[in-house]
This record gives sequence, structure tokens and C-alpha cells, in this order.
Amino acid sequence: MTGIEERENVRGESGRGPLGSLDEWEDFLVARYPEEGSVSTDRLKGTGEFFRDYRAEARPSVKEFYRLNHAGQTLAFVRAKKDEYLGLDHKRMGIWEAIEFLNTLVDDSDPDTELSQLEHLLQTAEAIRGDGHPRWLVLAGLVHDLGKILCLFGESQWAVVGDTFPVGCPFSDRIVFPEFFEANPDSSVELYQVPTGIYEEGCGLDKVHLSWGHDEYLYHVVKDYLPEAALYPIRYHSFYACHKEGEYGQLMNDRDREMFRWVRAFNPYDLYSKDEDPPAVEELRPFYEELVEEYFPEKISW
Ligand SMILES: [Fe+2]
Ligand SMILES: [Fe+2]
Repeated sequence: MTGIEERENVRGESGRGPLGSLDEWEDFLVARYPEEGSVSTDRLKGTGEFFRDYRAEARPSVKEFYRLNHAGQTLAFVRAKKDEYLGLDHKRMGIWEAIEFLNTLVDDSDPDTELSQLEHLLQTAEAIRGDGHPRWLVLAGLVHDLGKILCLFGESQWAVVGDTFPVGCPFSDRIVFPEFFEANPDSSVELYQVPTGIYEEGCGLDKVHLSWGHDEYLYHVVKDYLPEAALYPIRYHSFYACHKEGEYGQLMNDRDREMFRWVRAFNPYDLYSKDEDPPAVEELRPFYEELVEEYFPEKISW
């Protein structure tokens, strides 16, 4: 067994390590991209320290997670995972069944302080609904992380969550912990180092392979049922290098640029809707069951 495998195998159902819970990655994102007007942005803005120290502040488990992610997400790996999963022959289940399935993901975090996956989905959806957005965006909030069931299919955390980025072209240095890409075998493939790598300029993100994870997987599961504007946030919500840092514009087409407005509209609800008070699941359930029925058949393929 290699050192990497040993470290990864220490976790149980939460998907193989090194995070104690998938939330550790999301908490790190909130620290890196604090909400506008929050105490931490106000404190640091203008001090030159705003973008300082995410490295120093990241927990060792988060750093180790990024190290594995950046080393392992190669073009060949992404293609292999697409072959493995995009036939959608792993399971047949409805959206609520999938939510309940995802909620069985057990991790090492303290159950008293962490929200369940179901609670995060409901809080995201409720925050979107509260601001009067269209029903399909509320539904995107409800389902956006269901691709994390990949953990329950035995995938390593680094192949389920993490900021996504294109493979087969240069890794942007605006991706968090860019130094870890040195260990990625694709970094020494010359063909991938020209400005747009294996892609044509302006080809559109649909033609670009992003690092494999819950976003891309779920997009393929739901793409026949939801409007395009709901699919964009589902597919690209973890693509921070693009929607937050403005990188990879050379691969986008006009449609992407137009639709990214929904990715950006969605992102704050995902990152900043976490509230310690759990949502009233049973009270909300009838509304969301009806919303699911409006768009989805009873069972879909996963
Ligand atoms: Fe997500
Ligand atoms: Fe999320």
C-alpha cells in the first residue's frame, strides 16, 4: 500500500479521507471567500491582507485534501471516471430517495455542530426561495450537492469535492494551492501547456473536461429534466477559478458568459446560507416534494 492509500483508508463512509467531513472543504471556501460586508472582509479590506493567509489558516486535513486532489486529477483520470459513471447505471432512485441516501453519509465531525447534508440542501434552497428567485433555481439549490453520493459509491473525497478546474490545459495559479500541481503528471505533458491546451479558444465549457467531482456527475444525472439556467450552477458551482477568480475565459463561449450569471447568483446561497438552526424538515417537505414532482419523474438513473 502506498502512503496515499494508507492515509485515505482511515475513514469510513464519508468517502476515503483525509477530511473529517466534507464540510471542512466548504468551511475553508467560506474563509477564503468571505461574504461581502462580513466582519472578516471589512476588517481586512484595504489592509493589503485580504488575500493573505489561506495557506496558514487551512487545517492540515484540508491541505492534504488539496494535495491529493491536485496530484490525482489528470485528464486520463477524468476520462476514466466519466466512462465509469456517465452511463448512469449505478442506481435507480428518485430525488428524495437520493437525498435520504446522501444523508446516510457518516463522517467524523461532531453531529451537534455540523449540519447534515439534507439540512445544507434545504437551507440553500430556502435562502434562494426567500429571495424570490424562480422555482427552478430553488430546485437547483435542493439538489446541487446530490452528486456527493459518489462518496457512497466508494470514491475518495478528492474525487468528489474540491474546487474544480479544467484538465488538459495549463493549471491556473489562481486555483488554491497551485504548487500542488507540480505533482500532477499532466504538468509535464507539453501538449497541455500551450495556452488553451487540447481545446480551441472559445470552444465553450461543455467541450472542456473539468476535474472530476460531484458537480459534473450530478449535471449528467439531471440534465434532461432541468432548464439550462439551473444546470449551469449545478455543473459549475465549484469552479471557483472561473466564477470567482475570472480565469479560463479563453475557453468560454458567449452562452457560458451569459449563463454564468446564474452560477454567480447561486454561489452565495451555497456558501453563506449555513445557519446553526436546522431547517424544519418535516414542515418544508411537502413544498419540496411538489417542486421535485414538477420537474422529475418518480425515478431517475444515477
Ligand atoms: Fe457542492
Ligand atoms: Fe453545497
